Amino acid sequence: MTWGKLQPMSDAHTIVVTGASSGIGAAAVRLFHEAGHQVVVVGRDPQRTAAVADALDCAPRYICDFTRLDDVRRLAAQLQAHHPRIDVLANNSGGMFDGFAVTADGFERTLQVNHLAPALLTRLLARNLVEAGGRVVWTSSMSIRMQKQVKVDWLAAVPLAPAAQPTVADLHPLVRNSQAASGTFHPLARYAQAKLAMTHVAVEMNRRYSDRGLASVAFHPGVIASNFGSGTDTFIGRAYRGRLVKALFTSPTTAAQRLARLALGTPGVDFQPGTYVQGRGAKSFPGSDDASVAQQVWDRTENLLATIVD
Ligand SMILES: NC(=O)c1ccc[n+]([C@@H]2O[C@H](COP(=O)([O-])OP(=O)(O)OC[C@H]3O[C@@H](n4cnc5c(N)ncnc54)[C@H](OP(=O)(O)O)[C@@H]3O)[C@@H](O)[C@H]2O)c1
Repeated sequence: MTWGKLQPMSDAHTIVVTGASSGIGAAAVRLFHEAGHQVVVVGRDPQRTAAVADALDCAPRYICDFTRLDDVRRLAAQLQAHHPRIDVLANNSGGMFDGFAVTADGFERTLQVNHLAPALLTRLLARNLVEAGGRVVWTSSMSIRMQKQVKVDWLAAVPLAPAAQPTVADLHPLVRNSQAASGTFHPLARYAQAKLAMTHVAVEMNRRYSDRGLASVAFHPGVIASNFGSGTDTFIGRAYRGRLVKALFTSPTTAAQRLARLALGTPGVDFQPGTYVQGRGAKSFPGSDDASVAQQVWDRTENLLATIVD
């Protein structure tokens, strides 16, 4: 299979992509649609989501704000009602946000949008994915490799105690030195910790579900010219908004091809399930050499979600 332009599939899949209203997600649904798959477009902004879906022969579209876990539950119920067979779930939505904000569900916003909401959606759709012998692809970030360790305390308290929040001190020294210590709550540290937790859940999901035919894998999409960074005024946000710098970044289409390789490729051949993929293959990340860390992150995530769902 070539990943530049997907070959038309005789066996069309139903592929749900979150964060499909722009950037990598929008490019991914275009790629899958062109190859003849049934894409399901999930976005937060109704107009941007409709614009993407309308351009794909009016593909089904759903609106969901990940800062609201009720929205995630409603989305899962809608997907189950209208698309009982889900072959691929691409947990792609996410972002970095300035300022400390607690959602209506009582979680820190960055943690909820990047980790808890996709974990909840996946948990609610797990039966459908297992029945399809499906795949879960999690859009992570190379920022996870700049963390010293996963800050599991962050996943321990609701609402989150300020002392448990990731700070600039959690960043790798190489990154830390280039960051202004902008207060206690550091957007990059929080983003990276949320993606790190998500990546551990991706790995642990594969361990728990692979014998039922489901494969789960996380990946770094590259440094991609998208709307990423629009929620932060850190140097990262400014870089993503700067036209000159952005011209050096990789296109969303290339990131979508990377996503497609994991979504449709052959496990064990095109990628290794239960890993974090960056560049040509699986890469280590903080805690990846100790299976108990992923189990701990999984359990703590389940505990947090149980306070909401059960
Ligand atoms: N671009 C990069 O270099 C890069 C690098 C590493 C990882 N990533 C990850 O790649 C993924 C896709 O990002 P992108 O680069 O394509 O950026 P993007 O263009 O900003 O797309 C992000 C998507 O996530 C959605 N989203 C943001 N907050 C949300 C919320 N509260 N509820 C529901 N959806 C929400 C956005 O919706 P709206 O359209 O409504 O904003 C958008 O559809 C993200 O998880 C990001 O963290 C990106």
